[in-house]
Amino acid sequence: MDGEHHDIKGSVALVTGGNRGIGRAFARALLEHGAAKVYAGVRDPAGVRDSDVVPLRLDVTDEESIRAAAAAAGDVTILISNAGVGDSGTRLLEGTLVVGVHAGFVETEMAAWVDAPKIPPESVAEQTMDALLAGRAEVLADERSRNAKAALSQPVGA
Ligand SMILES: NC(=O)c1ccc[n+]([C@@H]2O[C@H](COP(=O)([O-])OP(=O)(O)OC[C@H]3O[C@@H](n4cnc5c(N)ncnc54)[C@H](OP(=O)(O)O)[C@@H]3O)[C@@H](O)[C@H]2O)c1
Repeated sequence: MDGEHHDIKGSVALVTGGNRGIGRAFARALLEHGAAKVYAGVRDPAGVRDSDVVPLRLDVTDEESIRAAAAAAGDVTILISNAGVGDSGTRLLEGTLVVGVHAGFVETEMAAWVDAPKIPPESVAEQTMDALLAGRAEVLADERSRNAKAALSQPVGA
């Protein structure tokens, strides 16, 4: 379901796992699109190398850490729930447009072992910025995810 477009310019964003991989690409893209502040929600704030993001201690598997991060970053208007899976994102920020981002393999450390077509993390991030700006609730970032989605709409047994 699509919703209102989301302004990136002037926004305050939080990217979980914003120190490397796809999360870092999200943080860069948000700043390039004019975000006023981007928090990198990370387990080790000392490991954040980008001086233009704000390190925020956050372990998405730790309830107490999620609570502390939400309290410390009360000004967030865009949450990119990138690190790990589950509902930690919704517990950090509620009542906003949720964009589902799907991709097969992305060129990061996580997929280093995969010998299959991969897309750059910057492409995932840029497509997500487009979706936010257009109010689209879903990003199918590569051919693999588009094929998977198309297969879902086929009749059973097709
Ligand atoms: N790469 C792919 O092919 C691919 C495809 C589809 C979906 N994804 C998903 O995209 C997301 C990012 O993947 P990636 O490829 O960018 O992986 P990555 O390069 O391995 O980076 C993982 C990031 O998540 C952070 N992280 C891991 N556990 C965390 C925790 N408990 N709390 C906070 N941060 C945590 C890491 O921080 P540290 O530096 O502290 O470890 C790092 O910033 C993952 O959810 C992954 O499942 C990846």
